Amino acid sequence: MIPSRMLLKWMHMLLLAGLAVLCSSLDNGLARTPPMGWLTWTRFSCNTECSLDPDFCISEKLIMQMADRMAEDGYKDAGYEYVCLDDCWLATERDIFHRLQPDRKRFPHGMKYLADYVHSKGLKLGIYEDFGTKTCAGFPGSEFYMELDAQTFAEWGIDLLKFDTCHSDPRDNKYGYPAMSLYLNKTARPILFSCEWPYGEIQLNASLQTDYGTIRQNCNVWRNFWDVTDNFNSIKNIVNFYGKNNVLFQKYSAPGGFFDPDQLLVGGFGMSHYQQRAQMAMWAMFSAPLIMSNDLRDIPDEAKQLLLNKYILSVDQDPLGAMATKVWEFSGLQLWVKPIVPQGSLAIVFFNTNNFGSGTPIVSAASDIGMTDPKGYQVTEVFKGTDMGTFMPDTKLNIRVFPDDAYMMICKILS
Ligand code: GLA
Repeated sequence: MIPSRMLLKWMHMLLLAGLAVLCSSLDNGLARTPPMGWLTWTRFSCNTECSLDPDFCISEKLIMQMADRMAEDGYKDAGYEYVCLDDCWLATERDIFHRLQPDRKRFPHGMKYLADYVHSKGLKLGIYEDFGTKTCAGFPGSEFYMELDAQTFAEWGIDLLKFDTCHSDPRDNKYGYPAMSLYLNKTARPILFSCEWPYGEIQLNASLQTDYGTIRQNCNVWRNFWDVTDNFNSIKNIVNFYGKNNVLFQKYSAPGGFFDPDQLLVGGFGMSHYQQRAQMAMWAMFSAPLIMSNDLRDIPDEAKQLLLNKYILSVDQDPLGAMATKVWEFSGLQLWVKPIVPQGSLAIVFFNTNNFGSGTPIVSAASDIGMTDPKGYQVTEVFKGTDMGTFMPDTKLNIRVFPDDAYMMICKILS
């Protein structure tokens, strides 16, 4: 369980590398910390059947109700800001001037009205389009119309664009996404640009080398792996992908631009509370966008408390915006460490991918998991908010990480 000195050295080198990230980012002033909000996709998918299923279909009513919940139930105060439509809001055709239009039955008042409503709640409205000829669900795509579409979104008062990659050749992403980025900037409206550019490239399954430096210059957040689904295997696959590419990803996560491992499924159907908190912990360690896809009108209290947990949110929203270091993996248990402010402080997560037995005990010196500074640390267990006291490098940590769960600590350096 205790990593060797070599590993510790490696860990410290990576932590320093994390702090040294100074790569340029999209110059629109947005996403100084990872964006937080809500998105229709995983929970409400492409349900267009409003006559049969009025409360669960993609419609202005759904967005307005979620905006109400976000504003009134504490989510907005905790930092959740963007209420976002995913696919399936569009009419099947553009209008006679080639402009995009929402489905009139489901969005009877139009998008400007919806944006005004969301803004009146102190929130922001996100929308979805696709770089290809069609969206993934087959609605009109932006190819050949990108400038017009950017103008349309700005006129409506849109604040975030999720730009997908279906029905296009992923080899063209390196032209299409920068073009859309430019058109969005040209509108002079600050529109956060959420790109699926690298995800398109991995789908091609070929030798395309994803150029994260260029992506960071054009996008505020970028989806780079398969769609998350509401089960813990999906979460583990994403975490493992981030682990495998850890050294590369650390170079590009910083204020202005962040990796997007996809939606937060806390409050969903498919994962236990422990699995949900493990997702939330790892997303915070990745400095990931916290974009929930759940039903805020009907959410278990423990899921709500998790989404509003101020300790986890502070790690996610830490101003350094670093990607955690995967320090080691041993028998399915992973140790991740993230530098946070004030300098020298750490967030630490044990992520347990095993789902058998009663968990894994950790008995180790604080220095063996990263707390090496002789000044010592004030340590807080994050899920319950328990003050664990002061730790010096030789203090013994004695904890247990449950199966399919995580154990998360904030270790603030003492001055
Ligand atoms: C793709 C994206 C998803 C979602 C759907 C919508 O699969 O990766 O996040 O936007 O399209 O059709």
